[in-house]
Amino acid sequence: MYGAAAMATPALLDDATESQPYPYATPEQPKELSDRDLHFLSLYTGERDLDKLRAHVFAIWRSVKDTLWVYRCIQEFMFLQPRINMHPFYPQAKADMLADNSKRILDIGCCFGQDTRCLMLDGIPQSSISATDITQQYWDFGKQLFMDADKLHVETAWGSFTEPEYIQSGPLSPLKGKCAFAWAGAVLHVLTADDVSAFIAHVHAMLGPSGVFFGTCVGQDPPGEWADTPTGKGKRYLHREDTLEALFKQAGYSKVSISRDTDLGILERQEEISTFGKHKIILIFAATK
Ligand SMILES: C[S@@+](CC[C@H](N)C(=O)[O-])C[C@H]1O[C@@H](n2cnc3c(N)ncnc32)[C@H](O)[C@@H]1O
Repeated sequence: MYGAAAMATPALLDDATESQPYPYATPEQPKELSDRDLHFLSLYTGERDLDKLRAHVFAIWRSVKDTLWVYRCIQEFMFLQPRINMHPFYPQAKADMLADNSKRILDIGCCFGQDTRCLMLDGIPQSSISATDITQQYWDFGKQLFMDADKLHVETAWGSFTEPEYIQSGPLSPLKGKCAFAWAGAVLHVLTADDVSAFIAHVHAMLGPSGVFFGTCVGQDPPGEWADTPTGKGKRYLHREDTLEALFKQAGYSKVSISRDTDLGILERQEEISTFGKHKIILIFAATK
C-alpha cells in the first residue's frame, strides 16, 4: 500500500516572510463544532447527546487554552479526529498488528491521544501501544476529553524525543530496537532542522528490523525555516520531499516513500496551510529500517 508516488500539488503562495513568529493568536472563543466534528468522540465514548459532548469539548478547550501552548491543530479542534487512519500505510500496519500482538507501535507526539484511541477502536491491544510526548498535560486533558481515565492502560512516557538521553536511558529505552511501527502525525514541522534530524535518527534506534516510521508533516517548497518553535528556541524547519528523504537515508532507513498530499482528507485536518504563507505543502511519509 505504501509507496504512493509523490504527486504535484499547486504551490500555495502569499507574501509571508521567510521566518516569522507563530502567526496564529488563539481566539478567545472556540469555533463552531458540527455534529460531524464530534463523530469520533461520540463513537469512542458512547455518548450520543452531541450537545452535551459539544459543551464538554468547549470546556476542555478553554482549560487547555488557559494553561498550555495552543497549537493550530488545538485551536481548530483537529484533535477530535484521528489522523493515523488516513495514512496510506495504516491498513498494512493495522493488519500486521492485528495478526501479531507482539508488534508494538509508538505514538510519538501523541498530544491528546486521538490516534492511540483510534488504534484501540480498531482492535489493537493497549499492551501493543506506547504513547509519548514532550508534554504530559495534553494527554491528561485527553483522558478528560475521551472520558477513559479508568480504562486506559497504554504505556506512556514523557520527554523530548529529540534528546539523546531520553532515547538512551529514558523510560522507553527498553523498547530500543524492538518497535515494529512508529507514528508521528503533525510533529516534525514543529521542530528545528537539527531536531528533525535527531527525531528521525532516534525513531530509527527504536525500530526493530524492518520496522516502519510513518507520519505526516507540513513541508515547504522551497524548504527552509519558518515560524518560531513553541519553546521560542530556534525556528521550525519545513522540509520538501527530497530534503526529508535525504535525512531518512542519512539516518539509515533502507526504503523511503514520501508524497505530497493532494487529498483534502489529510490536508484539511493538518494545519490550515493556505494561511501558512510561502509554498506550504503536506508531506506523507513512510520509511523502513
Ligand atoms: C501539532 S501537535 C500534533 C499532535 C498529534 N500528533 C496530532 O496529530 O494531533 C505536535 C505534538 O508534538 C509534541 N512535541 C513537540 N516537540 C516534541 C518533542 N521534542 N518530543 C516529543 N513530542 C514533541 C507536542 O507536545 C504536540 O503534542
